[in-house]
Amino acid sequence: MSDETRQSVRVELGPRSYDILIGPGLLASAGAEIAARLPKARLLIVADERVDDLHGEALRAALSKAEIPHATMRVPSGEPTKSFPHFEAVVDRILEERLERGDAVVAFGGGVVGDLTGFAAGVARRGMGFVQVPTSLLAQVDSSVGGKTGINSPRGKNLVGVFHQPALVLADTDVLETLSPREFAAGYAEVVKYGLIDRPDFFHWLEAKRAAIFAGGAERAEAIAASCRAKAEVVAGDEREDGDRALLNLGHTFGHALESAARYDAERLVHGEAVSIGMALAHRFSVRQGLCPGQDAERAVAHLRASGLPTRIQEIPGTPFTLTELMGKIAQDKKVVRGALTFILTRGIGQAFVARDVDPAEIGRFLEAELGA
Ligand SMILES: NC(=O)c1ccc[n+]([C@@H]2O[C@H](COP(=O)([O-])OP(=O)(O)OC[C@H]3O[C@@H](n4cnc5c(N)ncnc54)[C@H](O)[C@@H]3O)[C@@H](O)[C@H]2O)c1
Ligand SMILES: [Zn+2]
Repeated sequence: MSDETRQSVRVELGPRSYDILIGPGLLASAGAEIAARLPKARLLIVADERVDDLHGEALRAALSKAEIPHATMRVPSGEPTKSFPHFEAVVDRILEERLERGDAVVAFGGGVVGDLTGFAAGVARRGMGFVQVPTSLLAQVDSSVGGKTGINSPRGKNLVGVFHQPALVLADTDVLETLSPREFAAGYAEVVKYGLIDRPDFFHWLEAKRAAIFAGGAERAEAIAASCRAKAEVVAGDEREDGDRALLNLGHTFGHALESAARYDAERLVHGEAVSIGMALAHRFSVRQGLCPGQDAERAVAHLRASGLPTRIQEIPGTPFTLTELMGKIAQDKKVVRGALTFILTRGIGQAFVARDVDPAEIGRFLEAELGA
């Protein structure tokens, strides 16, 4: 446990401010860190089954060492767990354990468990203490930061939820060692996203350090901390997503359409891969519109490819998508306002902006060319 590789990021939200701790070996310090912020709290750990098998004992040993009473509830790995039945079960377990408002629920897993658990903690007893222990790269750099929580409805993804900020986020970079290379690369797409939005220097640093970040070590913790800082800054300026927080959707309008067309089948496409293709599309569309130099788009795409990520729609395995299908999905996206589409476009590396008046016909012609390419 080397302290010099430990990073801490403060999310400034007035009375709801909190720390994100990032670095190797943090699970072992979980007891002390939680006790310092939530004295005398009892805990319910809601754990992704797979993560619990791999790392649950380490977390529980740390809590026992700090004499923090805790129980564990395991939930199945995978997106279907972000649903009403599991939500009801988690709330019921919180009540069964007789947790009070000063106690806390701990999310131990990727974004699925974080979103589900945060939502349950946000509404049980009108809001309980909540700690995030994110274990996927995506959760460490994105979903555990910012306080958005929720579940999917049969009518669509992430349609039911609340804003509920955690009291602490503990991102142990060692647990990423057991993450599959595919899931690691998918999480990395969101890291690249922060560079492409408004941090060209960070993007250039990622280009130089990619191999080291994938290998683990100090650069990995640094990349995660920089990502958390980037997201925390946006969130602090726009906690409830009325303005600048929209930039975080770079690549996501196209990405969500692709995920939906692939029916959220993780074998075909996981979220970060969809975002990677979506960011490549946003850059190429920006070039086509005369907004972005071609070489900037090529550079962004080259970095994603070098990271093992897909950048073209045709790379998604299975039955190819049709233009009608994709346009239908884009029109369903919540970012449509009276016929015009809102997209995050770019003027170059790290120069993304919100475009609120994108003509659907232009998108149609662009996607037609992409699908035929
Ligand atoms: N709240 C937000 O702001 C926000 C932002 C982005 C994404 N999300 C949500 O996050 C979810 C995606 O998150 P995710 O990519 O972490 O998915 P996930 O939680 O399904 O985790 C991905 C897979 O990795 C496994 N896993 C996690 N940590 C592991 C580890 N250390 N070792 C081995 N396996 C491990 C899980 O069991 C799972 O199979 C989506 O539901 C998405 O909507 C929320
Ligand atoms: Zn995303």
